[in-house]
Amino acid sequence: MKRDIKEVLFSEEKIMETVKEMAKNISRDYEGKNLLVVGVLKGSVIFAADLIKNITIPCEIDFMAVSSYGNSSETSGVVRILKDLDHSIEGKDLLIVEDIVDSGITLSYLLQYLKTRKANSVEIVTLLTKPARRKVELEVKYAGLEVPDEFLVGYGLDFAEKYRNLPYIGILKEEIYK
Ligand code: IMP
Ligand code: MG
Repeated sequence: MKRDIKEVLFSEEKIMETVKEMAKNISRDYEGKNLLVVGVLKGSVIFAADLIKNITIPCEIDFMAVSSYGNSSETSGVVRILKDLDHSIEGKDLLIVEDIVDSGITLSYLLQYLKTRKANSVEIVTLLTKPARRKVELEVKYAGLEVPDEFLVGYGLDFAEKYRNLPYIGILKEEIYK
């Protein structure tokens, strides 16, 4: 896999440092609340697992799976819920975990959907943000690392379902996806 990577953007050490800092802030901000961490499958699983391990207050976890209609490189704006939450979110303080916010379309759709369900609060935590590609305005409470407009893989991020298991985040060589 390594030979398909143009450049390592964030090492395992850098990622863990960022994740721990984010978990510390979340633990402080959600003290005394009803925290429910919601991972968005599949990209966020590795980040979500590391984040949860470093959260020091009581919390519940759940997962959603979504898929956007249309081709795979551009989000269409219509999101299909493939797996919904297992339990009611009434009175819970939801924290949606994403791997990367790109156009922001997937998350803004998800937010709208969840806001109809009487949660106490709904916020977003993402490890990566690609501000150059944002198409909709989206309030992201916790964003770890800003990234350039390149195609990234590793630490949960995939290209055609591969590379998710790389422990670092790298830029995929163009000849692989073009
Ligand atoms: P958005 O709706 O455009 O913000 O789409 C976000 C989703 O697109 C993320 O959850 C990722 O699954 C995927 N994505 C965006 N950029 C990348 C990337 O550089 N590498 C891999 N997946 C990406
Ligand atoms: Mg994703």
